[in-house]
Amino acid sequence: MDIILDVSDLNLKVHYDDKEFNIITDASISLKKGEVAGIIGESGCGKSVFWKSILGMLDESKWTIEGRVSFDGNEINYTDESALRSIRGKDISVILQDPMSSFDPIFTIEDHFRETAAAHAIMSKDEVRKRALELLTRLYIDEPENVLSMYPFQCSGGMLQRIMIAIAMMFNPRLLIADEPTTSVDMTIQQEILSMLKELNTDSKTGILFVSHDLKAVESIAHNIYVMYAGYIVESLPASMLSKEGALHPYTIGLLGSRPDFTKNRLVTIEGSPIRPDERKGGCPFFKRCERKNPDCQNYDMHLTEVLPGHTVRCFLYGGR
Ligand SMILES: Nc1ncnc2c1ncn2[C@@H]1O[C@H](COP(=O)(O)OP(=O)(O)O)[C@@H](O)[C@H]1O
Ligand code: SF4
Ligand SMILES: [Mg+2]
Repeated sequence: MDIILDVSDLNLKVHYDDKEFNIITDASISLKKGEVAGIIGESGCGKSVFWKSILGMLDESKWTIEGRVSFDGNEINYTDESALRSIRGKDISVILQDPMSSFDPIFTIEDHFRETAAAHAIMSKDEVRKRALELLTRLYIDEPENVLSMYPFQCSGGMLQRIMIAIAMMFNPRLLIADEPTTSVDMTIQQEILSMLKELNTDSKTGILFVSHDLKAVESIAHNIYVMYAGYIVESLPASMLSKEGALHPYTIGLLGSRPDFTKNRLVTIEGSPIRPDERKGGCPFFKRCERKNPDCQNYDMHLTEVLPGHTVRCFLYGGR
């Protein structure tokens, strides 16, 4: 089986104040072994809740989830809490934007490695230490023995980010989910993190789901890109086609235009802000902000069109009816 993660028609609704809001609609993604899939979209588009629902991390009293998720060829059974626990942190690891929030200030770095190990395996203190030293060295941490005895506050943000990746790699996960891993660090560390993730992907064939609002970061690491807007995957395409010529959806093209323009010394962005879940009605959710809209887009059923093998779009201009 070549597919490590297969998400099919995922629908996610949140309930509050006796109301129900669609947060993710008909989202499907497929990640092959050793591949990097990028999910890109502005803040609030649904990127984080998407992967949290895959890992069964959303509060069931608040969220309704429909769809099928298969990991390594087996459909995940969300009623089996012990199977889910084994998947989380062992087969699938997560690294988050803010490394500080993943560490407990009163425990040393070594304690953090031990805690992760204890959740999934019986390992002696020596085995954990050996594995931690191996991973820290692999992630270019100087003097790893000293680092193991340090507390989080004694480490820089960049170091913590690397330690977090090392902890995530403890059990050689088959899938690593990285949610905005380059967002709260400076440019140099961003580059370091990206090259480390690329290395892990190439050397260990770890599949990566790389989630970010930073198109440049996603583009530099992903093989395939999923563009998310208002909870819809509005376009999916190989990273090699992500250009103003290759991309088709007006939102993707807008994102491509919102890179920093150093010649004009400003950030060119899409006009307006993303639509909130309570503002969504029928038709295309990008309507208000779209430069290519026409009246029919307000009745468009948001179905997906495959324009080329591996390239899908949800836009009235491409297969509207
Ligand atoms: N716990 C929650 N309760 C209600 N709505 C939520 C909750 N978490 C996220 N949302 C809503 O779901 C949408 C997607 O959020 P999120 O996945 O965090 O976006 P992103 O990661 O793309 O910035 C947003 O509109 C957000 O307001
Ligand atoms: S469906 Fe219409 S409004 Fe929506 S992105 Fe396409 S052209 Fe723009
Ligand atoms: Mg997020």
